[in-house]
Order: sequence, then C-alpha cells, then structure tokens
Amino acid sequence: MTPDDGGSVAFEPFSREDAERVWQHIRQTGDVLTMGQYPEVEVKVDYKQPTPEIQGWMGKDSLAWLYERAQQMESIVEIGSWKGRSTHALLSGCRGPVFAVDHFKGSPDELNGAHGEAARRDIFPDFWQNVGGFRNLVLFRMESTEAAKYFAPKSVDMVFIDGCHMKQAVMADINAWAPKCRKLLCGHDAGYKTVQEAIRDCGFTNTRENGGMWIVTP
Ligand SMILES: C[S@@+](CC[C@H](N)C(=O)[O-])C[C@H]1O[C@@H](n2cnc3c(N)ncnc32)[C@H](O)[C@@H]1O
Repeated sequence: MTPDDGGSVAFEPFSREDAERVWQHIRQTGDVLTMGQYPEVEVKVDYKQPTPEIQGWMGKDSLAWLYERAQQMESIVEIGSWKGRSTHALLSGCRGPVFAVDHFKGSPDELNGAHGEAARRDIFPDFWQNVGGFRNLVLFRMESTEAAKYFAPKSVDMVFIDGCHMKQAVMADINAWAPKCRKLLCGHDAGYKTVQEAIRDCGFTNTRENGGMWIVTP
C-alpha cells in the first residue's frame, strides 16, 4: 500500500480486515511505528469509558462528548493524540478502528509552553502505556497531512482535529481531512481565534458544541 499513487488504498468501508491491512503496511514500513517495536501493554484503566486520568487538557465534558459520538461511528481518525487522553475516549466508544495521527513532537507553537515536555523527552511511551492495549488502535506516527494520503475520499465516519492550533496548521488539517470524512468533521478548542479563522477560510461554517468542540458538516 502506498499513499496517493493509485492502486491499493481502498478503505471503504473500514472493517477489521482493513485495519489489519493498515497494520501490515505499518509493520513493513519505517515511516509509521510498528506495534512489534514495543511490548504489549495493558490499558491501565477501563476500556469502556473515557478516562480523565490521562494527562492532557480536555475537560471531562468534552471526553464524554467524544465518547458518545464515537459510539455512533464505525471508524474514526484523530489528529493530535498527545498522551492519549482523547484517544482513550474515542477508542472506548468506537466499534471499529480508531486511527491516531501524531508525530509526538509537540505542536511547534507550544514547545516553549504546554508541549515543552515533548521538546525535552519522548512522550510516545506515555501514549502507548495509556492506550496501546486497545485492539482497535491504528497508529500513524507521522505528519497529519502525510497520513491523510493513505485514506481514500469519504473513507472514515468521523475525523476529530486537535493538532497544532496555528491558523495555517488547522487549515492544512481541515483541507487534508475533510474530503476523507463521511459523517462528522469536528475538532477541539472552538474558542481559539486561529481555529475559527481557519474554519472560515476553508469555506466552512461551524457550530460550537459543549463549550470547546466545533463541528462542521462535510
Ligand atoms: C493539543 S495536543 C493533542 C491533545 C490530545 N487530543 C488530548 O486530548 O490530550 C496536539 C498534538 O498534536 C500533535 N501535532 C501537532 N502538529 C502535528 C502535525 N502536523 N502532525 C502530526 N501531529 C501533530 C502534537 O505532537 C500534539 O501531541
């Protein structure tokens, strides 16, 4: 399977077999992390509910919102996973695969602030410890826009965007992922001016949900 070069990227609809094929690809290439490079881990907390125990910035209400939406989806892409706080909610709720996309380097504008830890140490082991035991997790450890090339148009039910919040970065995420989404395109930090401007300049309008979440209709 190769990105955007025609051929074998046909993910519609996603099934357990599709997820396995993605895993095969991940195992065969160096650009995304393979499960085999890390030991099997047990998820520390309940699989069947979102957990506020994982370090991150998302409020409990937002975790519950993600969990409830995820229960209505067969497949989900998350852009920006950090240590897996929101990923855990999505993985717990979704029946099918959750594709987590993160380079785990932290967002460039946050490296002297909230994401400073990622500049000092590798945060990936924290992510893996927190959610690596979920069988429906498929990890793309890479740039968001690169990962998008592996997905066919309208191939995933839900796309949740919570990567870098700089305007150009949000626009790049929306432009890359909106075409892949067939039901729910949403994201975090609806209150950020940069996020609002990015949504507008991508030609969408959005509704604000539950305080911090935004939704556009693809
Ligand atoms: C706000 S944090 C995500 C928080 C997470 N959703 C949670 O609930 O804890 C943003 C994440 O996006 C990742 N990120 C930023 N820009 C990215 C890009 N262009 N490609 C992939 N990951 C990116 C960072 O490494 C960081 O882990």
